[in-house]
Amino acid sequence: MKISTLLFGLVAGALSAVPLAALAQQPIVIKFSHVVALNTPKGQAAEFFAKRAAELTKGKVKVEVYANSTLYKDKEEMEALQLGAVQMLAPSLAKFGPLGVKEFELFDLPYIFDNYTELHKVTQGAVGQTLLKKLEPKGIVGLAFWDNGFKSFSANTAIKMPADLKGKKMRIQSSKVLEEQMRSLGALPQVMAFSEVYQALQTGVVDGTENPISNLYTQKMYEVQKYLTLTEHGYLGYAVIVNKKFWEGLPGDVRGQLETAMKEATVYANKVAKEDNDKDLESVKKTGKTQVTVPTAEERLAFKKALAPVHVKMESRIGKDLLQAVYKETGFDPTKL
Ligand code: LMR
Repeated sequence: MKISTLLFGLVAGALSAVPLAALAQQPIVIKFSHVVALNTPKGQAAEFFAKRAAELTKGKVKVEVYANSTLYKDKEEMEALQLGAVQMLAPSLAKFGPLGVKEFELFDLPYIFDNYTELHKVTQGAVGQTLLKKLEPKGIVGLAFWDNGFKSFSANTAIKMPADLKGKKMRIQSSKVLEEQMRSLGALPQVMAFSEVYQALQTGVVDGTENPISNLYTQKMYEVQKYLTLTEHGYLGYAVIVNKKFWEGLPGDVRGQLETAMKEATVYANKVAKEDNDKDLESVKKTGKTQVTVPTAEERLAFKKALAPVHVKMESRIGKDLLQAVYKETGFDPTKL
């Protein structure tokens, strides 16, 4: 072989090795899409997870967070996850019905959890694990539950008693339990993507909605809702989910590091959830645009009584055994109201 040919071969080999080596250094990208603002419990927890994932994997994983429905809206994000167009999401537990995992709607049952302590008995216990396992046949792995908070009703007319919601068009998430909840109050439920709620309230397409305060505040819904009554009649939280094929295809050590990052992010999420909702309530009050009312014990009981039948009506949808297991953890009894 001529020296020049050999040299050419060596140089060409070295050159082609450069992109290969560079390729080997390319981080594994996790696209994490969600629909809320950055300054919400979920928004902050997603950023926290991204940071810890980069640190623990020493840059082998790059989590790209897309907040505020910038990549996908509610329904599309589920489809995108299953197709592998995004790898990670944290949809609200009220949005798993269309996927065929209707048991998650148990979290939407009115007054089922009185506080975060009762809720955590379920999300951090055996029932929570059973629920996450139900996602696997759908090509999804459930990694964790993240808290947001307790929902309250808002509208453009005052809401003191259940009858005040009669005939009102109320935006809901895509949950049959929430649909039944609104019907039990005589309201007209309207399923709508989160990204469309502000405009729908502004233009009168719907009259009111229900939210944890953090969502109401960060989406500026206080600008278009005159009244907020702190009914705290239901819970809104999330399941962090990942595309199963992607997750199982990760190198074992990387997956372990990501599991650690997720555990830390979950502690963080659940810590900021209550703090954010409390802080955002004060911020809503300060705007002076929404009148905030705390129901009296009598008014609260009237809502509880009006909504208790939802438990009975939805029992077959959720599954009797599952529901009993939850009641056992929390002590809730819909027949004793
Ligand atoms: C909603 O649609 O109201 C919520 O699920 C939004 C969210 O992700 O908190």
